[in-house]
Amino acid sequence: MSKFAKLEIDNTSISLPVIEGTAHEKAIDISSLRKTTGLVTLDNGYVNTASCQSEVTFLNGEEGVLQFRGYSIEELASRSDFLEVCYLLIYGELPSATELAGLQERINTHGYIPDNLKKFFSHYPKDAHPMGVLTGMVASLTAFNPEFLHPFLESNEKDTIIAKLLAKLKIIAAHTYRSSRGLAPVDSRDDLSFSADFLNMMFAEEGKSFDIKPEIEKALDLLLILHADHEQNCSASTVRLVGSSNANLFASISSGICALWGPLHGGANQAVIEMMEAIQKDGGGYKKFLAKAKDKTDTFRLMGFGHRVYKNFDPRAKIIKKACDDVLGQLGIHDPILEIAKGLEEAALEDSYFVERKLYPNVDFYSGIIYRAIGIPTNMFTVMFALGRLPGWIAQWKEQIEHPDSKIGRPRQIYQGKLNRSYTPLSDRN
Ligand code: SDX
Repeated sequence: MSKFAKLEIDNTSISLPVIEGTAHEKAIDISSLRKTTGLVTLDNGYVNTASCQSEVTFLNGEEGVLQFRGYSIEELASRSDFLEVCYLLIYGELPSATELAGLQERINTHGYIPDNLKKFFSHYPKDAHPMGVLTGMVASLTAFNPEFLHPFLESNEKDTIIAKLLAKLKIIAAHTYRSSRGLAPVDSRDDLSFSADFLNMMFAEEGKSFDIKPEIEKALDLLLILHADHEQNCSASTVRLVGSSNANLFASISSGICALWGPLHGGANQAVIEMMEAIQKDGGGYKKFLAKAKDKTDTFRLMGFGHRVYKNFDPRAKIIKKACDDVLGQLGIHDPILEIAKGLEEAALEDSYFVERKLYPNVDFYSGIIYRAIGIPTNMFTVMFALGRLPGWIAQWKEQIEHPDSKIGRPRQIYQGKLNRSYTPLSDRN
């Protein structure tokens, strides 16, 4: 392919450089477009627009490829653990034993919530959606860490704020759950893995340790790894955009949590289970729901299906689907929702509407089944997604603020409103 793209309009012709990524993806660099032609481009939903060049995560939607810093999701899922994947995404390389211990040590150092912040939990209504509590509590970390409100942090300061977030989001998530059930918080423990510590803080009876089944710890760690990053998705792009104004990391992550909440994005994992329960309640037939999903006059969508990038299978969905069988088998759980999910997937993939549009199960289609098996309530599912996605958001924020050409994100628009109107006093308006 040529190194330049020619754009001809009226009697102007300009050539724009074509850049190529390490996986040979190509893009027309339009950085000079407005300066040279006065034109901007319009791209609803940024379907055709790359917002940045990044080295964090690579997706190939046609081939169902997902790599974190060049390592396949399949290999990381089977051989790594979540803490190591956090280090890989954020710092760019698999850690040595010393580097990994250093990250663990920094997380342990910050494994608490200030007492005054803890008091906030008791003031939220018990039925508050956990994602609203999570984003509020993360933004409130700014009040307790004023020294981190500017983004021009030294390397060691970045290491500290990163460890603070990795430590405290896990605690805030568990405290949010316990507070909604009127349970006293359980402290974070240094002697447990990231996932085991979270499970203990969630489910331990006061004053006792929670009997953490290794298969549950492993299943949670797998889900956290699979959710850890996904290049420029809606929430990662939000974190980058907020961070591009030189807002601090707590504010940027809090905004990412809000973006993730939407049912078209991370909120889909909760919506999938609610959809499956509706199918179950309705007698378990799929036809009606598939018809609704295909009906353009109906806002209903097949939740957990479809993806902006994957036009083949979502590799994460394949891994989670297998893990459902493994985990439920190991725990001796028969969840009828799993059978409904498998039947719905089969019925959809035999339906030309879904096949023609290349709609396949995405990461959210099966994940809720494992969360249920672990004992996590449906309204906490998107919190679990945020917990897994945190290292990816941090990696995207860090890459952006450290980029020498980092600019504030400020898209243009094409104005279609009224122009040059004169003000009419209220008395003259009917
Ligand atoms: C995540 O971006 C990421 O990487 C996100 C994520 C990550 O890890 O960060 O992977 C996590 O958010 C996964 C997606 C979770 N959301 C859902 O499961 C909600 C259901 N899915 C859809 O709403 C939809 O598929 C999206 C939002 C995921 C993608 O939407 P797009 O890319 O804008 O696709 P589209 O709306 O242009 O759809 C193309 C066609 C349309 O039909 P036509 O106009 O061509 O007739 O496919 C149809 C859509 O109506 N379609 C669906 C559908 N998804 C797309 N029809 C029914 N059910 C669906 N789920």
